[in-house]
Amino acid sequence: MKTIRVSVIGFGAVGQGVARVLIDKKDYLEKMGLDFKVVAVADSRTAVIDDNGVDLSSVLVRKQNEGVVGSEKITGLEIIETIDHDLVVETTPTNIVTGGVGLQNMLAAFKHGRDLVTSNKGPLAMKYCELIEAARAGGSHFRFEATVGGAMPVLNLAKDVLAGNTITNVEGIFNGTCNYILTRMTEEHAPYEQMLAEAQELGYAETDPTYDVEGIDTACKLVILANCVFGMNASHEDVTITGITKITPEALLLAQNEGYAIKLIGEVNDSRINVSPKLVPIDHPLAVGGSLNVASVQTDLSGPITVTGRGAGSIETASAILSDMISIYRD
Ligand code: HSE
Repeated sequence: MKTIRVSVIGFGAVGQGVARVLIDKKDYLEKMGLDFKVVAVADSRTAVIDDNGVDLSSVLVRKQNEGVVGSEKITGLEIIETIDHDLVVETTPTNIVTGGVGLQNMLAAFKHGRDLVTSNKGPLAMKYCELIEAARAGGSHFRFEATVGGAMPVLNLAKDVLAGNTITNVEGIFNGTCNYILTRMTEEHAPYEQMLAEAQELGYAETDPTYDVEGIDTACKLVILANCVFGMNASHEDVTITGITKITPEALLLAQNEGYAIKLIGEVNDSRINVSPKLVPIDHPLAVGGSLNVASVQTDLSGPITVTGRGAGSIETASAILSDMISIYRD
């Protein structure tokens, strides 16, 4: 059995989802020879450290009931710097303006030679090359499937599963909030604001939903795809962005009557990175409904490979994180 000492830094919906799947999949993981022992959990209202393994069930219950858990006066960054462990699961809230605490956490993890798996797209969208170089210098494994498309596999699909293929284009829907809003506006002929409120209630939207509806969240994901899959050194400035705020129920109805859906489509290839609403035939593979994400990867050997899945959600995002954790340590 291989024991991997883990910290979970960021204990909101995604961090708690990781804790939940580690509890539920304990036997499954042990059959693979993997024992992920969480030795520290932290966020701004949580700090629990136990060298013998944190009791995750108890922390989850206390987090839900009390909000504040643990009396340790220690930050996530201090845990990364001082507690002996192998892997940091970095799930702090994303910040695409400064990179926030997530960027500091990632750089500290690599400085201390720790592996890192994250769902936090902000630092990667801002400082991709710097982070990759820091991980290389630290001899750290660094995986981030959860940053693009939640449970829907796209980065590892393009990089690992389709290795040997040249990827010529990736396009799809990479924001569940926008897809939900457009789908529901079409179904209900209801105004945009009402459906945005629904998407927020369902927990799909970012803390500031402007990032979703203005296309900025999709742009961040495209920047990560551009850098990871196309080997670019792209940033926000390289993305042309149009959001969905000006789309009316009337426009959606008109499109529907002609056999089309309006979708916020992100597209990346080696000459352009673009986010904009597009007309998609309703029987096209990209015309998925609800809050689903979809990605169509164009390859030279295999033609188009299209995947769809849930792009947001606590357990769904934890699924992508767990997959990255397993792939680091399985072999
Ligand atoms: N707000 C994002 C979305 C969450 O709606 O897709 C996942 O990045």
